[in-house]
Amino acid sequence: MRLDFAPMEGITGRVFREVHAACFAGVDRYWMPFFSPTAAGALTPRQRRDLEPGPLGTPRLVPQILTRDAEAFLWAAAALAELGYAEVNLNLGCPSGTVVSKGKGAGMLRAPASLDRFLDAVFARSPLPISVKTRIGFEDVQEWEALLPILGRYPIRELTVHPRTRRELYRGGVHREAVLRALEALSIPLRYNGNLFTPDGIRRLETACPGLSGVMVGRGLLADPALATRLRGGVRERSALLAFHETLAERYLATMHPDGAVLPKFKELWVFLSLLLEDGAPWKRLRKCSRWADFHPLALELLRNAPLRDEADFSRLDQRESW
Ligand SMILES: Cc1cc2nc3c(=O)[nH]c(=O)nc-3n(C[C@H](O)[C@H](O)[C@H](O)COP(=O)(O)O)c2cc1C
Repeated sequence: MRLDFAPMEGITGRVFREVHAACFAGVDRYWMPFFSPTAAGALTPRQRRDLEPGPLGTPRLVPQILTRDAEAFLWAAAALAELGYAEVNLNLGCPSGTVVSKGKGAGMLRAPASLDRFLDAVFARSPLPISVKTRIGFEDVQEWEALLPILGRYPIRELTVHPRTRRELYRGGVHREAVLRALEALSIPLRYNGNLFTPDGIRRLETACPGLSGVMVGRGLLADPALATRLRGGVRERSALLAFHETLAERYLATMHPDGAVLPKFKELWVFLSLLLEDGAPWKRLRKCSRWADFHPLALELLRNAPLRDEADFSRLDQRESW
């Protein structure tokens, strides 16, 4: 089963992707967090920097656009083609209030007729093949039935389905039946995303849905950065976890303030990494640290010596594996 690392705004930026790929094998492609093209018609210097492929190279990266404006999508796709990318992804899943209130991301699912017009315009003129990442509705799962024929009308290179509605955010269970329904109704390649946390869970999904083109994993790979390695028959080495943690710290510290920027980034990562610890209590001590100088030795000590679980315990976040 092909496995891609999900895009996660604020977490899976360039440094994270490069360090993860250097320390752990098994991920086919890394998706880049979305960017929003402005009306100005040109990438900002920061967007250009973020979108430079770097050592991973364009074949292992998928850039993603968040917009409801077909013209903005088209110039951004042209800029991505110039940077050497072979595919551009459209975000129809972002549930954030500020995004959906502007009718973007999952907000586009609320207006199927406008979505249809948008897709019509971009598929007619895009310089790159377009893939799509979507939720299954805005308010209600019933909306999926009306969205399927719209999506089915376009030559989508690959459709990644996160089977929750916008209203459900990332909470509760996923709607497995919506994935089976899409496999039945659509003839485009389908990738599954949502609550895959273990190699066994991914294998169960593969057995239940042999028609999928691949999976995308986000939080499961944050909790166990060796998840893809293990899916391919490898093992999780403590030395690889340590190298990952320390190289990430080094690279962040080279350009960011230890307490103001690096500490919050590591705390966000440890929300998930701590799910690997046999005993969840030390995370509470880590969470209270207000200085990188206190946090870092404690985190290192845990990675070096704390007993680790075979699989991350997502029940601590009230999450269950989907398959
Ligand atoms: C902090 C955070 C940031 C995210 N940013 C993006 C994004 O930029 N683009 C996107 O398509 N999805 C984004 N997502 C959604 C993830 O890609 C993924 O769909 C979600 O985490 C569910 O998959 P998982 O259960 O494997 O984590 C984000 C999720 C989180 C938690």
